[in-house]
Amino acid sequence: MSDVSLNLTINGVGVRLKDISPTMTLLEYLRSSDRVGTKEGCGDGDCGACTVAIVGQGADGKPHYQAMNSCLIPLASVAGRELITVEGVANGALHPVQAAMVETMGSQCGYCTPGFIMSLFTAYYDRAVDDFSLEGNLCRCTGYLSIRRAAELVHSTAPDDTFAAHLSEATVDLTPLNYSGNDQQFYRPTQLSEALTLLQQHPDATLVAGATDLGLELTHRRQYFSVMVSLEAVTELKRVEQTPEAVTIGAAVPLSHIETNLHGIFPSLDEMLHWFAARQIRNRATIGGNLGTASPIGDLPPVLLALDAEVTIASLTGTRTVLLADFFKGYRQTELKSGEVIVSVTILKAMRAGAVRRLSQSYKIGKRGTDDISIVAAAFTIDLDDSDRIVHARLAYGGVAATPVRAIEVEAMLIGQPWTLATIQQIQPTLRSAFTPLTDLRGSADYRKLLVANLFEKFFVESQQLCTLNNG
Ligand SMILES: Cc1cc2nc3c(=O)[nH]c(=O)nc-3n(C[C@H](O)[C@H](O)[C@H](O)COP(=O)(O)OP(=O)(O)OC[C@H]3O[C@@H](n4cnc5c(N)ncnc54)[C@H](O)[C@@H]3O)c2cc1C
Ligand code: FES
Ligand code: FES
Repeated sequence: MSDVSLNLTINGVGVRLKDISPTMTLLEYLRSSDRVGTKEGCGDGDCGACTVAIVGQGADGKPHYQAMNSCLIPLASVAGRELITVEGVANGALHPVQAAMVETMGSQCGYCTPGFIMSLFTAYYDRAVDDFSLEGNLCRCTGYLSIRRAAELVHSTAPDDTFAAHLSEATVDLTPLNYSGNDQQFYRPTQLSEALTLLQQHPDATLVAGATDLGLELTHRRQYFSVMVSLEAVTELKRVEQTPEAVTIGAAVPLSHIETNLHGIFPSLDEMLHWFAARQIRNRATIGGNLGTASPIGDLPPVLLALDAEVTIASLTGTRTVLLADFFKGYRQTELKSGEVIVSVTILKAMRAGAVRRLSQSYKIGKRGTDDISIVAAAFTIDLDDSDRIVHARLAYGGVAATPVRAIEVEAMLIGQPWTLATIQQIQPTLRSAFTPLTDLRGSADYRKLLVANLFEKFFVESQQLCTLNNG
């Protein structure tokens, strides 16, 4: 039976919404219901003016306030959730993060300010107020100095108020949803079998996870989705499993959980996640969504290709596993067939036979440090034997072809060679001509070709510096 309403809690008050489009964005709803403190700047996740907090499950499994961009979130995705908007943070007196912004004069026109307040608010309760908690917020007039001073003011304060107390009693488990409104259907199953059955019943349904990519279809392209199946609550897709040999990451695990729970295992993954979008996006974006978009400039595919990751895919007829190297079939095309869902990604930890040392790192070149898409992304894995000869090589790139790709010819050339600058220089010409990238607004084809070769040289140089450091 269908749910007749979307129920959520906003600033402590229960809201019951009927006959409303499930794909209306949360921001559109907030502003149309007179909660106009939350602003719209870009409408595509870049400026942070629309930031709100939800009470969600953190990487430690406990309830946390989490910042997210309301401009990208379909309303039905937050059904059953508890939300705090900028109207809800002051409790009789200014909230400490508001007071700090006033004290440091962190606001001029004020358009960006509600977004900054909400990012500071969530970081405050995590005791994690720093520059990175504000990386997803832009200010065009105040200047960041005074905003950073506000962050410094609240950095060391221990939260002790009703918001902090509330976290210990909040519930974050999502319940199943089957809502129809505006002639649109939104399902949120909690079991994989249910999700697969829904896909069989609705072959044209659109899968949605964090909606950080799909949200742009709603805001910018005004696309109409008649049936959506959300994977956000599917138990089997939310697990991170570790054994001594491998790590398996569920497709619907938010990137911020991966950042925390797998930190230190794969240096190249740690590095790329650090530069991936911004906090608000990483709180929602998933690894399954990053592969599902099949974007040639997706940042995780190069990292996962360089680590020989495998993708597990399920349908009602069973489960299969494919190498990520075989997953991308063409521009925005994947191995996924109708009725199939990405369940997880598995990465083996072990080096190749004969190796005694593994070098692995990733690089992202964009127009700015954080919250930007790549011009070129690269990830490398090199396994060396006890005489520093290469026994295994993976060089993977994004932004240089219609799909994320490996430089297979160069990988083969490297096998058996010593890990020296001479080897790097020898393969440079082949590497420079390995791909035929496009010229676009972000960079020319020639620039991209140079990056392909130079980033590998950078990787070599850094690996030598690391050796020098380790040897004292
Ligand atoms: C401001 C901004 C910054 C961004 N920065 C970056 C960045 O730095 N690097 C980067 O790589 N990307 C970036 N992105 C793109 C996006 O955040 C990522 O691709 C993200 O990983 C998508 O995950 P999601 O869960 O939000 O996917 P969704 O938007 O929910 O879905 C994306 C696609 O994948 C499909 N899909 C989702 N899950 C599955 C599944 N389990 N099985 C099959 N198909 C599935 C959906 O049907 C849809 O087609 C950015 C986006 C924004 C708006
Ligand atoms: S309006 Fe700019 S991030 Fe949402
Ligand atoms: S105060 Fe005007 S944009 Fe930040």
